Amino acid sequence: MEPTQLPEAERAFKYFDLYGSMRAHKIMLEDMARMEAYHSAIFKNKSEMIADKVVLDVGTGTGVLAVWAAKAGAKQVYAVDASNAAKLARRLVQSSNVSDVVTILNSKVEEVEIPEPVDVIVSEWMGCFLLKESMFDSVAYARDKWLKPGGLMLPSRATILLGLYAPGNDSDRTNVVKLKLEKEIAEWKETVSNLQSLDVDYSGFTSEVVQDLSDYFLTNSMRVNYLSPDDLASAPQKVLEFDCATVDPTILVQFSQDFEYTISKHAEIKGFLGWFTTDFPNGVVLDTGPGKTYSHWGQQLYPLKESLKVAPGDRVVGTISVSRDPDEPRFNVVELKYQVNTGLEQTALFNVGDVQHLDEGSKNVFG
Ligand SMILES: C[S@@+](CC[C@H](N)C(=O)[O-])C[C@H]1O[C@@H](n2cnc3c(N)ncnc32)[C@H](O)[C@@H]1O
Repeated sequence: MEPTQLPEAERAFKYFDLYGSMRAHKIMLEDMARMEAYHSAIFKNKSEMIADKVVLDVGTGTGVLAVWAAKAGAKQVYAVDASNAAKLARRLVQSSNVSDVVTILNSKVEEVEIPEPVDVIVSEWMGCFLLKESMFDSVAYARDKWLKPGGLMLPSRATILLGLYAPGNDSDRTNVVKLKLEKEIAEWKETVSNLQSLDVDYSGFTSEVVQDLSDYFLTNSMRVNYLSPDDLASAPQKVLEFDCATVDPTILVQFSQDFEYTISKHAEIKGFLGWFTTDFPNGVVLDTGPGKTYSHWGQQLYPLKESLKVAPGDRVVGTISVSRDPDEPRFNVVELKYQVNTGLEQTALFNVGDVQHLDEGSKNVFG
């Protein structure tokens, strides 16, 4: 087993090592919701915001946003990536015939030197539930150092939304995790009897096994896709919204927000559901919420141990607190305190890190 807390240099190595592989980039390049949003953002805004401008692409990966910026008429594009993906970006830039405009810099953006201030920063920095990966810190660092006053950020706004997950019985995704848990416990019981035949008794460990498996399965968020707005018990609420050009990134390290939902139908709430949107100028929006097409971020489902039966007019009130995982600052810890009407307040704690995949067809291990 790996120790949970790694030194910063080792964590950075692991993070950038992941992005050095085409496997990571394949997943992102296959996400058409993501690709179409950035393509529209760059090309819809090209004459007034990109043409003849100096652009910085923070975390260029395979170079796609830099190549698009060059094709949209940028005067100069600085494309920075700390991982070996910079080599892949060089190839894409060459084969796209934009080498005269795009300069690839294989460096952390915090350590890079570029020869001039920039008019535009473009970056795809979002993680699951928006903040996983904590990459916006690097984007904000680049913004404060290299963006001209009044310069453009792409995306320009980011929003986290939270809803109450109340699916029909036949489509309840939380069942999948309960079944997985039951299967693991049954396997353990079989293991105990197999080991008894080898003259060693592990039956005294069953309660720990059940506890540890339950903790894992019921305190990690699950990534889901293909949900519908009908799977929610009431309208979702914004729990964080910021302007990428002005936000102080330290507020993203820990924030809390109260919520209050008025229930619109008879329903059984099985969990909370979180997702994000990012806005670009001219009305381009990347929306990863229920009812939208597949994205590699999906939505994060926070399953409740005990479901909540609600009726129209009931109120679900509480607070969400999101903070960085002390053992792995690129992951998040989400605490939900909630109560129905004036009932007992309950608390549930989740990790957004080692995300379990419940969405058919999802291959993502990053995001
Ligand atoms: C989510 S990927 C996006 C890649 C590409 N822009 C795209 O849209 O396909 C983020 C990229 O940012 C890079 N990155 C993250 N933090 C960085 C930093 N501080 N300095 C330089 N590159 C960084 C990673 O190596 C990774 O390739």
